[in-house]
Amino acid sequence: MTVLLNIAQLATCPADFPQQDAGLINDAALVFEDGKIIWVGKEKDLPGPYSATEPIDCKQALVIPGLIDCHTHLCFGGWRADEFDQRLQGRSYQEIAAGGGGIRSTVAATRAEDTEQLAQKALLALEGMLDLGVTTVECKSGYGLDQGAELKQLQVYRQLNEQQAIDLVPTFLGAHMVPDEYRQQREDYIDLLCEVLIPAVAQQKLALFCDVFIEEGAFSIAEARQILSTAKKAGLGLKVHADQLSAGGGAQLAAELGAVSAEHLEYTDQQGIESLAHAGTVAVSLPLASLYLREPYMAARQMLDHGVKVAVATDFNPGSAPSYHLPLAMTLACINQQMTPQEALTGATTIAARAISAEQKIGSLLPGFNADISIIDSSSLNHWLYHFRANACLDVIKSGHWVKKSG
Ligand code: NIG
Ligand code: FE
Repeated sequence: MTVLLNIAQLATCPADFPQQDAGLINDAALVFEDGKIIWVGKEKDLPGPYSATEPIDCKQALVIPGLIDCHTHLCFGGWRADEFDQRLQGRSYQEIAAGGGGIRSTVAATRAEDTEQLAQKALLALEGMLDLGVTTVECKSGYGLDQGAELKQLQVYRQLNEQQAIDLVPTFLGAHMVPDEYRQQREDYIDLLCEVLIPAVAQQKLALFCDVFIEEGAFSIAEARQILSTAKKAGLGLKVHADQLSAGGGAQLAAELGAVSAEHLEYTDQQGIESLAHAGTVAVSLPLASLYLREPYMAARQMLDHGVKVAVATDFNPGSAPSYHLPLAMTLACINQQMTPQEALTGATTIAARAISAEQKIGSLLPGFNADISIIDSSSLNHWLYHFRANACLDVIKSGHWVKKSG
């Protein structure tokens, strides 16, 4: 049994509280055993039997649930720093993509690398994420776009799940783009997805979710409906990249099909917001992508005010969001999207857990939940997100084990 004492503020982040309430407790204590939390509350109320245990002194730190990055493209070959330079000179993301750059160039680089090379690079990112207090990461395929390379990305996730501390939640994004070799016969690529790849992924349990990028130049609403309906029948949960660069009805489709989340939503209109609220689909905001692409931010305030639950994630990928810094995304959500610090924290914990259908197990610091805990060098949640530092995370505990220790 482990007892944490002398916690200045602890955020319980209950799944059944409204998003604006992170369930903060000042002067708190927490007890866990066998990888699960067994008690949490005010230190002065700590039951006698727990006080007998040699406690860990948190030295007036902030204690939060391990952060959950519920949208990343973690496994990819190469980088695209040249495009960063081009965008700074005024070329748009779409112009670069039309010229053969963008996702296509990462597909070529990812196809060229073997599983070991890809895994080594993704592992470095995971180490960096863990250091920031992240304990669960959703990770998409989508840079292979053929049978071998899509399955290779998902195999990398399976391998890394065994090798390191962060829990990985894989998503099949074979419908990220139509690959060059199918440009003249896109229906054949959609057939390949529906008849070969989705069944293979579901049968080998290589992913829990299926995602589609709905956008001009990627997939239409009708194509997405076909792909997602096939995935649903195969037993996969659904996610959608929607309305990132233009309003395209993706939010409504996500709601119609019962997707667990709709992601990006920078251009979602009022009707889209209402559909998400009605269906209970989580809106996943990706403020780092807006920052890097100088695109509008998702209207998170409006969504929250209409009863939509808003998760905050990084979108880590080599193009639109080459940073995996989830706390930075949370600070940006406060500054640019009028989310409160409590909403940003629940967005990166219990709501993020909901976006991967795991809110009964992770994302909250309550009895019965996994002991996934991050200890932050701040006296309060407000202070942490306001006094932004490259890394304020001191300790990380994953399923009851210390995976980062500050000393
Ligand atoms: O989520 N929008 C589509 N996919 C990624 C970008 C991928 C890339 O640029 O490589 C995104 O932003
Ligand atoms: Fe993305």
